[in-house]
Amino acid sequence: MTQPMPPTDAERRRFLLEMLPPKSVGAEIGVHLGDFSEVILDVTAPEHLHLIDPWRYQPSSEYEHALYGGRAEGGQREMDERHAGVLTRFAEAIHAGQVTVHRGESVDILSALPDGSLDWVYVDGNHTYEFVAQDLRLSLAKVKPGGLVTGDDYGEGGWWEGGVKQAVDELAADGAAQLLLIRNGQFAFETPHT
Ligand SMILES: C[S@@+](CC[C@H](N)C(=O)[O-])C[C@H]1O[C@@H](n2cnc3c(N)ncnc32)[C@H](O)[C@@H]1O
Repeated sequence: MTQPMPPTDAERRRFLLEMLPPKSVGAEIGVHLGDFSEVILDVTAPEHLHLIDPWRYQPSSEYEHALYGGRAEGGQREMDERHAGVLTRFAEAIHAGQVTVHRGESVDILSALPDGSLDWVYVDGNHTYEFVAQDLRLSLAKVKPGGLVTGDDYGEGGWWEGGVKQAVDELAADGAAQLLLIRNGQFAFETPHT
């Protein structure tokens, strides 16, 4: 008997995109090649989408197993090609003013956006604890009251040693936002409505 195919990355995450409000303004932290950005555009048709990624090669041994470290055999040249590829892939939407590609660290790019200017954020950048904790805290400030702070790779292990789970669990425990769900490795917080 043939086994059912495992869900693709897009299928496993689609339910989360269906929770996002229509015509929203959102941000994806960690873009890589833009595969999920394209699904976001298709499913949610946002009014505006900020794509945030430094496309910076990390040579240190800590990042040996990261897509932007040891798994990027071409080093910084490969990162530059990925960035150029994303600009080409979304050229039409960029030209139409629907997409902005920000090349930089999430801490710098998010900090420069006005507080309360986003409906939602999808956190999928550097997965180590300190970075995720920082992305979550900053995202809480950048979304409107009742906005969503969501993300990928909630779970044990990974080269990031469960950093996403640790940061999400901490935020859920401190009550700054309400944890709505954890499913298929995705998480979603809602900020207070007042
Ligand atoms: C898992 S990939 C993102 C995958 C993408 N969201 C998708 O689903 O197709 C992680 C990305 O985070 C980026 N990244 C690493 N450090 C970052 C940081 N400080 N701020 C924003 N993005 C970062 C990496 O360059 C890499 O492209």
